[in-house]
Amino acid sequence: MKQLKKDIILANVPKNRINIDIFEEIDSTNEFLKKNIQFNEFNLVASEKQTNGKGRRGNKWHSPKKGNIYMSISTKNTFKSGPLSLITGIICTKVLSNVSQTEEIGLKWPNDLVFNNKKIGGILVEKDIYANEEKTIIGIGINFNINGEENWWGDISELKIEDQRNLIIAKITSEIIKVYDENHFDWVNQWENLCIHLNKEVKINNHDSTTEDGVFIGIEDDGSALIKTESGMKSFKSNEISIKGVY
Ligand code: BTN
Repeated sequence: MKQLKKDIILANVPKNRINIDIFEEIDSTNEFLKKNIQFNEFNLVASEKQTNGKGRRGNKWHSPKKGNIYMSISTKNTFKSGPLSLITGIICTKVLSNVSQTEEIGLKWPNDLVFNNKKIGGILVEKDIYANEEKTIIGIGINFNINGEENWWGDISELKIEDQRNLIIAKITSEIIKVYDENHFDWVNQWENLCIHLNKEVKINNHDSTTEDGVFIGIEDDGSALIKTESGMKSFKSNEISIKGVY
């Protein structure tokens, strides 16, 4: 396995706009960027392991092994083109497909990366206010090899691109910077093209523990899921959905 290397990443990003820190072990790359003052326009942190990796909805992100991607990018810039977490999902999927020359990685709403019907990556976008300045932190976890430890989760070991982690981190970072620079990103079409459950039956888990069945019709401008249920067309904001046959 090739180590994370700052110089390789730096050679493939706009280096005068970004600071990069690489760690062997850290609690959480998102937390590091929250806790520390940043002076650069963009800041990237990547670590081989995390001792307290965080997932969405207060979940843990299991990160004890080397060889995966645990990275976060922070910026004080404002992003105007659409829901950042969904756009980051598109970027990660496209970069992994490009590097592996396959089209087998897809998206499950809202921003899970899926391969062989299992979750192989996730995104946690957080906002933090420090000294009256708001910063956005985009955390990305991608499992390249988890050795079947948690068998309800997957990895992309069979794509054999683990040695390209530095390039993948650099490409994801550059694409995120590009999206900040350009004020437009045609994300709805791209997201729907990558979605693994478009027009498929899904189960919606509501916050009050009830469930509803429906067909996933598409995505709305604010990132909500549009689902045709027995009682009509409904829009869901941050509910979890489950799909038959997918983890
Ligand atoms: C999810 O629950 O799907 C989101 C997972 C996000 C995990 C990444 S790993 C790098 C960054 N640091 C963290 O503590 N979490 C994110």
